[in-house]
Amino acid sequence: MKKILVAGGMGYIGSHTVVNLIENGYDPIIVDNLSNSNIEVLNRINMITGKKPAFYKVDLCDYDKLENVFKENDFVAAIHFAGLKAVGESVEKPLMYYQNNLISTLNLIELMEKYKVNNLVFSSSATVYGDPISVPIYETFDLHVTNPYGRTKLMIEDILRDYCKVHKEFNVALLRYFNPIGAHPSGLIGEDPNGIPNNLMPYITQVAIGKRECLGVFGNDYNTKDGTGVRDYIHVCDLAYGHVLALDKLFTNSGLVTYNLGTGNGYSVLEVLHAMEKACGFKIPYQIKPRREGDIATCYANCDKAFKEIGFKAKYNIDDMCRDSWNWQKKNPNGYKK
Ligand code: NAD
Ligand code: UD1
Repeated sequence: MKKILVAGGMGYIGSHTVVNLIENGYDPIIVDNLSNSNIEVLNRINMITGKKPAFYKVDLCDYDKLENVFKENDFVAAIHFAGLKAVGESVEKPLMYYQNNLISTLNLIELMEKYKVNNLVFSSSATVYGDPISVPIYETFDLHVTNPYGRTKLMIEDILRDYCKVHKEFNVALLRYFNPIGAHPSGLIGEDPNGIPNNLMPYITQVAIGKRECLGVFGNDYNTKDGTGVRDYIHVCDLAYGHVLALDKLFTNSGLVTYNLGTGNGYSVLEVLHAMEKACGFKIPYQIKPRREGDIATCYANCDKAFKEIGFKAKYNIDDMCRDSWNWQKKNPNGYKK
């Protein structure tokens, strides 16, 4: 079976991708330092797939320990999810973000070169488009970033573009995710944020379960359908499958490819809230708050390129996403913590 190194595979998107890889006949080997995830994920993956993937508790910034993983395994590809991802925290602690996200990636690429592993899928983000000139957003749009988290994504994209110019044998898929939400339909794996959630969906589900009092809606005076921010929410299982499709593309010796992964539809904060009320069957309290600094009005993808080149098309809609987020939250009120 083809071994895939899954860096950050214990996290939210990584764990769903590991399930998809197993279901598609791959042998995922997870490398994660558990800085934002829980060992229980392995049991849950086993419950879903009947297979417990190999796991190394290793920090990608530790070159020697990461090298041991390469020595012990013959990989055909790597998928790189490992990184810190909280925008606000990255503004407070920029060095921590540059150190973790950049050094981990440089170590990974260096070892891939040394061990001749020539295929890499990288988790980029719609954040690299900054405030786009128009929507939908195409892969060809200019790239702008406004915070250290976003800058690490753009810097890594640049590093990989430079590297691929001279390493024609190396194939990279830069996957620019829009807003992943939802959870595996089993309710066994899902998003498990530490502390107060920064992102909309985990905040809503925590209000719905009674852990938080009320959702703050950040601004209702944007130039959007109802004044609240519009985003392209994508079910995490659709996103996970996108990685399997991207791998198939890399194996054709594609060179560097870049794809938006979203649904192409924009939903406002209030539309998501109401879809969630439908999923749980009761009203969820909210209050309009001032705009959040750094937020943009509208962001959604054009995903034609991913459809044409790798056959990617999201199949879950916003109601499915809310149903599965709620199912996960209900079954795991404290996430993976016992
Ligand atoms: P996550 O925090 O749930 O998963 C990341 C995993 O990487 C965690 O398990 C963490 O423990 C691990 N990790 C972090 N630094 C590491 C290191 N130095 N060595 C080893 N392991 C390390 O995040 P996620 O939501 O699953 O996101 C995965 C990737 O996708 C991230 O790179 C993130 O920036 C990117 N992304 C996420 C979103 C989103 O909304 N979730 C959107 C766009 C892009
Ligand atoms: C945020 C990050 C982005 C990152 C993405 C995925 C910021 C400024 N941007 O994007 O870089 O790639 O997460 O991790 O943090 N909202 C509320 N109340 C809340 C939370 C959110 O009204 O409590 C609104 C926001 O204003 C926005 C929408 O909900 O309009 C979605 O917010 P969020 O889930 O944080 O995602 P993004 O802001 O798109």
